[in-house]
Amino acid sequence: MMHLKPYLAEKREIVDRALESCFPPPAGPAGDVVRAMTYSLFAGGKRLRPILCIAGAEATGGRAEDVLPAACALEMIHTYSLIHDDLPVMDDDDLRRGKATNHKVFGEAIALLAGDGLLTEAFAVLAGMSLPVTTSPNALTRVIRWVSEAAGYRGMVGGQVADIQSEGTPPDEERVRFIHTHKTADLITVSSVCGAVLCGAHEEWIDALTAYGRGIGLAFQISDDILNIEGDRGTLGKKVGSDVERGKVTWPAVFGLEESRRAREDLVRGALDALNPLDHRADPLRAVARYIVERQR
Ligand code: IPE
Ligand code: IPE
Ligand code: MG
Ligand code: MG
Repeated sequence: MMHLKPYLAEKREIVDRALESCFPPPAGPAGDVVRAMTYSLFAGGKRLRPILCIAGAEATGGRAEDVLPAACALEMIHTYSLIHDDLPVMDDDDLRRGKATNHKVFGEAIALLAGDGLLTEAFAVLAGMSLPVTTSPNALTRVIRWVSEAAGYRGMVGGQVADIQSEGTPPDEERVRFIHTHKTADLITVSSVCGAVLCGAHEEWIDALTAYGRGIGLAFQISDDILNIEGDRGTLGKKVGSDVERGKVTWPAVFGLEESRRAREDLVRGALDALNPLDHRADPLRAVARYIVERQR
C-alpha cells in the first residue's frame, strides 16, 4: 500500500514550480490581469488534474518532466473554470480555495478576463510543448483536440450550461448525469489520459486510463456534492449549503445521501478494475481513486 500524502505533496510542488515558470512578474498595461490570473492559480488548489496527468504518464512508463506543460495547461483551464463559476452571474460565491473569490478582489471585468487569459494561455503552453523523441508528433495534436473538446461546449462548458439552467428544476437522473459528466468528469478524464498519450502509451493503456478517468471524475463531483452538504467550510475553503440554497440538481438531490455514497463507491471500484491492465506503476492512480471517496476538501 503506497502513501498518498507524500506523493501528492511532492507532485504538487513540481506542478507549482512549473506553473510559476509560466508567468512573468505582473508589469505593464496587462499587469492587472496577470496579477488576477496568478492570484487564483496560486490560491491553494489540490492540483488534482495536473497530478493525474503526471501519474498517467508515469503509470505507462513516461516521465513527469516530459508532461509538465500539459499538466500546467490543465490546471490553468480548471482555474479559469472556477473563476467564472464563482461570478455573480453563475454561482455567485465569495470564497474559493480559502480566499476571497477573484471578482471580489479584482472586480468582475478583470475576473472575466483573468479566466479568458488562463484558458487561452493553456493552449499556448500546450501547443508550444515538445514531446519525447519516441512519441509520434500526432500525439500532441490529438491531446490538444481532446482537451479542447473536454473544456468546450461538448464538455465542461456544456455541463456548466446545464447546471445553471437546471437551477430550481425538479431533481432528474438524466440531467444530473449529464451535468456531472460534462462539467467535471470530462476534464478529469482527459487529465488522466493525456500524460500517457504524450509519452506514446499504447491504445490498451489509453483505453484503461479513459475508463478510470470517467469513473473517478463522476465520483469526484459526487464527493463535491456531498461535501457541499456535510463538509466543513474552513477545511473546504469554500461555502457549504449553497447547492440546496440555489436549487442545484445534484447527486444527493436526485438519489439521497446514502445512495450517493454507494454510487461513489461503485464508480471508484469500477475505476480500479479498469486499471487492471496496468502494473504497480499505476499504484498512485489507485491511491488517488480511494482518496476521492475519503477526501474532506
Ligand atoms: C472544484 O474542483 C470544482 C469541481 C469541479 C468539483 P477541485 O475540488 O479540484 O478544486 P481545487 O482545484 O482543489 O480548488
Ligand atoms: C464546478 O462545479 C464545475 C466547474 C467549475 C467546471 P460546482 O459549482 O459544483 O463546484 P464548486 O462547488 O463551486 O467548487
Ligand atoms: Mg457551479
Ligand atoms: Mg460553484
